[in-house]
Amino acid sequence: MKVFNIASIPGDGIGKEVVPAAKHVLEVLAEIHGGLRFEFTDFPWDCHYYLENGSMMPEDGLETLKPYDAIFLGAVGNKKLVPDHISLWGLLIKIRREFEQVINLRPAKMFHGVKSPLANPKDFDLIVVRENSEGEYSSIGGRIYQGEDEIAIQNGVFSRKGTERAIRFAFELAKKRNRHVTSATKSNGIYHSMPFWDEVFEDVAKDYPNVKTESQHIDALAAFFVTRPEQFDVIVGSNLFGDILTDIGAAIMGSVGIAPAANINVNGKYPSMFEPVHGSAPDIVGQGIANPIGQIWTAKMMLDHFGEEELGEVLLDVVESVLKDGFLTPDVGGQSTTKEVTDEVIARLQAKQ
Ligand code: NAD
Ligand code: IPM
Ligand code: MN
Repeated sequence: MKVFNIASIPGDGIGKEVVPAAKHVLEVLAEIHGGLRFEFTDFPWDCHYYLENGSMMPEDGLETLKPYDAIFLGAVGNKKLVPDHISLWGLLIKIRREFEQVINLRPAKMFHGVKSPLANPKDFDLIVVRENSEGEYSSIGGRIYQGEDEIAIQNGVFSRKGTERAIRFAFELAKKRNRHVTSATKSNGIYHSMPFWDEVFEDVAKDYPNVKTESQHIDALAAFFVTRPEQFDVIVGSNLFGDILTDIGAAIMGSVGIAPAANINVNGKYPSMFEPVHGSAPDIVGQGIANPIGQIWTAKMMLDHFGEEELGEVLLDVVESVLKDGFLTPDVGGQSTTKEVTDEVIARLQAKQ
């Protein structure tokens, strides 16, 4: 019996609604498989925890998480209780950085049965490789002067190692897909980091003569995600560009509630973390209508990471059929609840047994 030990952090808001749903799905999958088991340990680290303890996780929180095979996280953030930059840097961003989860993989594809806001959507199937540890997300900078002369300075950090690692990851992934990598740049307006990004992209591309390359400025690329998403395969972008592009990727699928993500530790020293693209959705929390598909598809990415691709494929097929048959939460135009969608996924998995 293979056992996967998973640290589960539901976090804030709808994280507490969609994580239990996806855990339930994983447990059913384990039963179907018969040869594996998931052992979940829950960690109640959220903004309420911060109010009681003065931090988002205990001092030895990272040590506690380190031995797990993976971290399964919902969402973090409740700005009524804690400013977002404090809660996010205290938990989500802290784990990404300290556990060297340098790549954030975020696929987007068209699902039949889910209405895309695009007028005439063609089948698209793309994946964004987001650099996940540096770039525009940096704590370097500060605020000087006061009053009307005050200035906030925010430095971006682009190391050759980090940039090359993300770009190379994208090319390796493209070799297993449709051999096309698009680089998200902004070297016309950002003076230092983006010309550097382009240079590294061109250097790495030389090692992959059989992969088609394309470089687009992020503003144009954001528009192309809307006007011609079917022409993309792998897109590599900096931390911030990848963040923004993947909400667009989610939107053209029909809802950010569907979109999954995997924060990958590529050197194997620390656990990777699986959390959907969406946040804690304070506007719908407590109503039982959060879309669980983003978290469930995220579970599929965790299965892939564990080398259980076949089981992951079974899960994604079921998700596609459930959506196609109209089991949809309100964000994708339906009237189903979180529980109804989850129960349908589970019922269809059980029917396969
Ligand atoms: P959000 O993704 O939480 O919500 C944006 C919109 O999408 C809202 O209308 C929301 O109702 C909807 N939505 C999101 N997930 C949904 C789901 N599963 N089902 C149905 N509808 C869904 O983004 P936001 O409003 O910018 O952020 C809210 C909080 O979440 C903030 O504190 C923010 O910092 C945090 N956040 C956390 C993460 C994370 O932990 N990974 C990601 C994004 C935002
Ligand atoms: C995401 C989120 C986070 C990010 C925020 C909440 C810090 O938007 O995971 O996409 O920007 O990385
Ligand atoms: Mn985001």
